[in-house]
Amino acid sequence: MNFEQIAKKRRAINFFDEKKQVSEEQLKQLVELAAKTPSSFNLQPWNLMVLKSPEEKQKLKPLAWDQPKVVEAPVVLIVLADKATSSKGHPVFEKNWDQMLASKAMKAEQREWFENATQSLYNWSPDANLAFAVKNAGFFAMSLMYAATSLGLESHPMDGFDHEAVRREFKIPDNFWIPALLAVGYKKPDMELAPPKWRKTYDEILISF
Ligand SMILES: Cc1cc2nc3c(=O)[nH]c(=O)nc-3n(C[C@H](O)[C@H](O)[C@H](O)COP(=O)(O)O)c2cc1C
Repeated sequence: MNFEQIAKKRRAINFFDEKKQVSEEQLKQLVELAAKTPSSFNLQPWNLMVLKSPEEKQKLKPLAWDQPKVVEAPVVLIVLADKATSSKGHPVFEKNWDQMLASKAMKAEQREWFENATQSLYNWSPDANLAFAVKNAGFFAMSLMYAATSLGLESHPMDGFDHEAVRREFKIPDNFWIPALLAVGYKKPDMELAPPKWRKTYDEILISF
């Protein structure tokens, strides 16, 4: 499938086939494809919690507007945006620095510049820090959806959940924000897809001030 086909085929699927599982290999392939997502300074401030067991999904459902797809989909991903990634000392920040040195993208004497740049861009306020993490993790979530389509899977992103309740129930530390839940699986065979939803036109998207 080329990108046009993927973009046109992807839909938010409401009814999942409860009998059709997503294998470990498929999940790994999906995540590794989505991991190609670009991020600011390549900091990749995203993580995923994978819920597969009926018990875990059942625990999530009442916190997610009781949406049936939370238990019907074989896999539900809790997409996490790690606000701490843009701070020195974070393992990914440090790994990224080491990788930049190894690939000669940066020199050792640029360390202070790098710390100042990430500090001034992403840590100057709680809003900026949240925006950094959620924007990049949002791109990652989108990649997961397109990657799912490319692998013959279906997905459904969800905002309809109680952020703090999910944080509490799944013991998610404070440095993480949850940009979305993502159900992944296969469409129930007998369910008809609703016609594609409207989209803003080219002219509606372009704006000037
Ligand atoms: C971040 C995000 C959160 C969403 N949250 C929900 C949700 O909680 N429940 C739901 O039924 N649909 C949810 N949707 C699905 C949208 O309603 C759907 O993507 C949109 O109407 C366009 O339809 P399509 O994805 O089939 O093209 C969400 C979509 C996104 C991108």
